[in-house]
This record gives sequence, structure tokens and C-alpha cells, in this order.
Amino acid sequence: MDVKLKVRRQNPEADDKPYWADYSLEVPDYYTLLDALLQVREEVDETLALRCSCRSHICGSCGMRINGHAGLACKTKLSDLGESQILVEPMGNMPVIRDLVVDLEPFWNKLYSIKPYLQPATDPPEREYVVPPETMLHLDGVVNCIMCGACVSDCESLSVNPIFIGPTALAKEYRFVADPRDAADSERLFQMNGPGGVWDCTHCFQCVEVCPKDVAPMDRIMAMRRMMMDMGMEQHNGAKRANAFMDLVGSYGRLDETRLLMRSMSGLGELMSFSKVGWRALWKGKLPPLKPHRIPNAQAVRRILDRAKTQRPRRFKVHQAQQEGVRA
Ligand code: SF4
Ligand code: SF4
Ligand code: FES
Repeated sequence: MDVKLKVRRQNPEADDKPYWADYSLEVPDYYTLLDALLQVREEVDETLALRCSCRSHICGSCGMRINGHAGLACKTKLSDLGESQILVEPMGNMPVIRDLVVDLEPFWNKLYSIKPYLQPATDPPEREYVVPPETMLHLDGVVNCIMCGACVSDCESLSVNPIFIGPTALAKEYRFVADPRDAADSERLFQMNGPGGVWDCTHCFQCVEVCPKDVAPMDRIMAMRRMMMDMGMEQHNGAKRANAFMDLVGSYGRLDETRLLMRSMSGLGELMSFSKVGWRALWKGKLPPLKPHRIPNAQAVRRILDRAKTQRPRRFKVHQAQQEGVRA
């Protein structure tokens, strides 16, 4: 098959501006993008910089943006892309060292900051921890992370909020919070309830979409939010917003955005910081109504919410029980 690669290249050390390099190749149908890039390096331009190792989507080193979304070059078959021209770029949210190679130091620093190791309550047992398999089932999936950085590359929140700890580190944090052998779960959750923690995720789904191992970092973030709220950590604006959302929908049968904003803020000062946005919305005719509209039969919505609340498992208690089971 014929393939056209458009590769974003750059050498910041030489103060090069980024530019697009075009390569046309004839390759076998079974080729992956990584095979094609290696062919370019071997036959066309040996200066093309990229990282790879296992070539079997295990090591996580060949992360890059492919047609605008992060992925593993060794997992991406050219025949599956179905495009006449394939755009290849370095991963986002990380500084470029050269061409498709990015500096992963900030990525690792965030990961180390969550203490990515078990912190048991007692000294390790003489032989091993015996954990019933059913208590580990909820960790299925999250332990598959290969640290490729694809989720960090495409995280919408990180692109505007550099203090956000990011999807990889948060998925890893969940891996320990939900592990019955770890005793630092309250401390971990308390830390992630602050600036840069779970509430800075904008729920954009990008990390779920691009993860090559189905780790679903956003789902882990949402699970930690629920654990925090079950533990009574409800002072953060994000938690206030979640509570206000449920209350308002329960009262009016629909969302009242004006009151949602007011009830999510910590005081008048913070609310005033939104006055510019409010004036702009008013000017453009986008200001939500000040008096909320109640839908007919709003009590039915309240009943659904009440039932959902009583039927939802109290995750933190489930987790505590798991821990007690292990330590007994
Ligand atoms: S869902 Fe949250 S963590 Fe995932 S990419 Fe979007 S903002 Fe980032
Ligand atoms: S969560 Fe998925 S995308 Fe993110 S680093 Fe791990 S394997 Fe890669
Ligand atoms: S080369 Fe190891 S994951 Fe692609």
C-alpha cells in the first residue's frame, strides 16, 4: 500500500521552528505506523527522532499524536487509519526534545508526587499478603497502565492548568486508594481534594478515548470523588457543585445554572470574580433566568434521585470493610 506521512519535526536545541516533513512510502498492508516511521529513518532520513522499544504495545515508549489524537505508533495499523495522509506529531502537554521525542520529566514528577507504592499499616508480613481475589477485582484494568502518557498528552484540563496532577497520576492514585493492602487511603484522598486534584478534571473523556489499555482514568477520578464525598470531604467547590447540582435538579426537575454557580462558590469575593462573565452573558442574551423554572411534576425527578441515592453503594465503607478483611 502507498502511504503519505506528514511528520511534525523540530529541533529546539538548534532553535528550529517546527515544520512539517512529507514522506511517501510503499509498505506492506500489515505495517504499523511505527514500522513506517522506522522505514523512513532507515531509508529516507536518519535524523528523524522517535522513541520505541518493545514494538508490541507493552513498554509505552512510542506514544505520539496520530491524526490529532494520542496513541501508540506500534499499535496503530496503517490500514486501519484509512486516510490518504497521516499526520504525526509529538505528544501534547509535554515539552519537545526533538521531533517525536518529548521530555517526560514533568510526567514522572507528577507520578512520583502521589507516592506510587503501597503504604501498608503494619510491617510487611513474613511471607506475603493474602488478598481474596474478589477484593482486587475492582483494580482490574487500572493496573494495566503502561505509562505511555497518551492520556496526559490529550488532557484538556492540563493544557490550561499546569498544576493539575493529571490522568495518569490520578489513575495510579486510585490504584492504591482502592487496594485493600494500602492504609494511606484517607491521606491520599485528602491530598487529592486540594488544588490540582480530582476536582480539576473537566470530565472531557479524552483520557478514556485515547488510553491504549482501557485504564479509563476519568472513571477512576469520578470514583475518588465519590469516595471523598462519602467520607464527608465536601468543602471543595467541586463537591459543593456536585451537591448543588443534585439538589437543584431535585427541586426544579431541571438545572438552574444561576443558583448552581452561587452555591458552588466559597463566598461573595469568589462569586464577584465571575461578574465579568455574568455581564458578558447578559450582554449576549445568554444569562440563565434569575427565577428558576420548575418543570411539571418535578417531584417525580426528586423521587428518582432519592432512590438513586439510597441504592448507591457507600463506596468508602465497602473499601474500609475490604481493608479490615485483609488485616484480620
Ligand atoms: S477527563 Fe479529566 S483527566 Fe481525563 S482528559 Fe479530560 S480533564 Fe483530563
Ligand atoms: S492511563 Fe492509559 S493512556 Fe494514560 S499512561 Fe496509562 S496506559 Fe497510557
Ligand atoms: S514500542 Fe513499546 S509500546 Fe510501542
